[in-house]
Parts: sequence; structure tokens; C-alpha cells
Amino acid sequence: GRPSYLEILGDRYPTDSITNLTPAILAKVPLRLHTRPSHPLNTLRGLIESHYSDFTHLSSLSPLVSPYKNFDELSFPQDHPGRAVTDSYYVNKDLMLRTHTSAHEVEVFRRGEDKWLLTADVYRRDEIDGSHYPIFHQMEGARIFAADATGMREVAEDNARLRHRLAQAPIVIEDVPHLAPTNPPQATHDPAYAALVAENLKLSLNSLMLTLFGGQAGVGGGAPLRVRWIEAYFPFTSPSFEVEVFFRGKWLEILGSGVVRQATLDTANVPNKIGWAFGLGLERIAMILYSIPDIRLFWSTDERFISQFTDKEITTFQPYSKYPSCFKDVSFWTAQGLDLHENDFCDVVRDVAGDLVEDVKKIDSFVHPKTNRTSLCYRINYRSMDRSLSNEEANDIQAQVVSRLEEQFGVEIR
Ligand code: PHE
Repeated sequence: GRPSYLEILGDRYPTDSITNLTPAILAKVPLRLHTRPSHPLNTLRGLIESHYSDFTHLSSLSPLVSPYKNFDELSFPQDHPGRAVTDSYYVNKDLMLRTHTSAHEVEVFRRGEDKWLLTADVYRRDEIDGSHYPIFHQMEGARIFAADATGMREVAEDNARLRHRLAQAPIVIEDVPHLAPTNPPQATHDPAYAALVAENLKLSLNSLMLTLFGGQAGVGGGAPLRVRWIEAYFPFTSPSFEVEVFFRGKWLEILGSGVVRQATLDTANVPNKIGWAFGLGLERIAMILYSIPDIRLFWSTDERFISQFTDKEITTFQPYSKYPSCFKDVSFWTAQGLDLHENDFCDVVRDVAGDLVEDVKKIDSFVHPKTNRTSLCYRINYRSMDRSLSNEEANDIQAQVVSRLEEQFGVEIR
């Protein structure tokens, strides 16, 4: 059964019927990789902080937030899928692990910060593969201006400065030509103000992309950096955009952004401001810049990983030998009337196998026409990043996975 309380970062919290935080996740909450000297995530944070050197930099806010703060304060609708217990980690119905750094927007704006960057660990239940991990790191950046002639003069001056920097740089930008009707400037905004702010957002982030990815672009007549702006939807910004960068032959999704919803600023007690925000995932960018092939490596304590990095330097990771992998399949009938969510399956595997699991794939699923029960088959790929895993050890882990599935979800192994 479930424990009556969870101890997190030195405090105890009562559990309830929706508690779904596993020991494997809890053990990683204190680690705060983005603050470890020489760690790639810390170096990348430093690079982005130096780019935004005149912003306030925050990196020590607790990951425990109320669902109200993570969702409601940011205008998420009541039925948003992110709220589901299958998608987010809950301590109890009133407390969860933040799913994004935007959860702190209201509190930081309320403190009176008007240009700030915030780095933090965030948590999402997800599938298991080389680029997904239930804990990752985001950076939120935001800037707000007085919504009056003085504020708009400040925006216009900053826009001129950034336009000048970009005009001389090896960068090609594809912009969104027209806004979709579902992604409009906000009705309460003066359209001229909203346009200046959106332009500041784009110029500022194009300039950041140049800092992060522009290293070789244009050098010796080489190809310029390509950045494209795509329309997006977030409950707490409008208009909203995603930024993609063309790097080593592929378009990479880098961040989400937009003009902050006025409701957020009203709640934060700064109703007379207007501004923008963005949020980016550090792992994705670090994997590209350092050529790190598997997201689990960020958590590795192996000297062969750790010793490769120097503080404040982006270098190319030299992979050490890949150890053999070991596939194990498990087929089962789910309990009558119960469907087992893939994220529930994955959390059992993570909790038992830790970082020895490389990926999990559903390879079969069907419903029995007579009994109406669902049959599922998953293939689990076990591989250690540090050593050779024996078949016995994998069998032993697999046996534990199987008994946990039986106990926790009442499945019947086939
Ligand atoms: N919080 C969003 C995410 O995690 C990103 C975002 C931040 C979008 C700020 C807009 C503004 O996907």
C-alpha cells in the first residue's frame, strides 16, 4: 500500500488517493543538476544567463507547487489533459511537482521583477526512450514593460538595438506571416503596443539563438543560421509561438513563447504592464550542443561521463563503449474494466529498474471480443550505460516488474 506521508526536501506531506510520486522520482528531487559545477546543464544555464546579463537570475525555487499555481493561475482550463494524474506527479490533491517553470510566473512578477530568468527541474510522466525522462530542466525568461508611452519608448529602443545586432549577423529568420484567428493579439491590448512587444520577443529570442547556435554559422562563407517562427497555443500567452532552429541537418524545436496573458499580470498585481515570456528545455539543447546521445547520461555519476566536462565550456562528448542491451517482453490481460495507462506502466519500470531501462515500447494491444478484456504486450529494453548487465540481473528486474504489475494493477500475466 501507499505510505501515509512522503518526505520531500526535509518536510513531510500527507498522501491521499491520487498520490503517484514514486521513490525513484523522489530520490532525484534533491539533485538539482542545473546547479552542479561543470555539469552540461549548468554550463548551458550560464551561457543563457550571460546572454541575458541584465535580467534577474533565479534558480532555487522549490519544485512543490499547488495545482492552482501550476495550472489555474495560468488560465489552464479545468479539463486540460496536463492536470491528469496520468500526466503529472501528485503528492496529494493539493500539491504536485511543477510541470513547467511557468508555474512561477505570477509569483516572480508579483515580486516586482520585470526582466528575469528562472531555471528549475520540472516533472512530467511520459514514455521511456532516449530523449524522454520524467525529470528535466527548463528555463523561463520574461520581460514586461509599462503599458504606456514611456514603456513603449523603451521597447522601441531595445528593438532598434537588437535589429542592428541581427542585421549584421549570419542569421536567416522565417517569420509567421499572418496570425491564425485562434492566436490573436489580446483584445485588452492596444494593438500597437502588442505589436511592439511581440517584435521585442522575436528579436530577443533570435538574438539568443545566435548566441546558442551561431558559433560556426556564417564563418568562412558557411551557411547562416536558420531560425523559424511557428504559431503555437499556450493557455497563458496570446499570440503564442514556437521557435525552431535548423542545426546539423534537422529542424529542432527549441522553445515556446508568447505575449503574456493580461490575466497573469493582473493576478500578479502588475495590471499596468505588458510583456512576453518564453520557456525552453535545457536537456534537448544540451544533447545537441554536446552531442550527448541519451538523456539518462545527465544523471550519470560515472567518472567517464562527469570528467569529460569543464565548467563554462561546451565540448563534444566522446561516448564510451555502448554495453549490450537486453530485451524482455511482458504480455498480460488488464483487470476487468481497467485500462492500464502507458505512463503507469512506465513508472513501474522506472521505479524497479531505475536508469537501467533504455526504452519501453508497446508492441501489441487488442481487446478480447468475448470477455472485453485488454491484452497488452510491452517490450522493455534494459541497458546499463556504465557496465555490462547480466541476463540474470535483467531477469531479476523483469520478475520484479511483473510482480509489481500484478500487485498494483491486478494484471494477469499471459
Ligand atoms: N511552459 C511552456 C511549456 O512548458 C513553455 C512556455 C513558457 C510557453 C512561456 C509560453 C511562455 O511548454
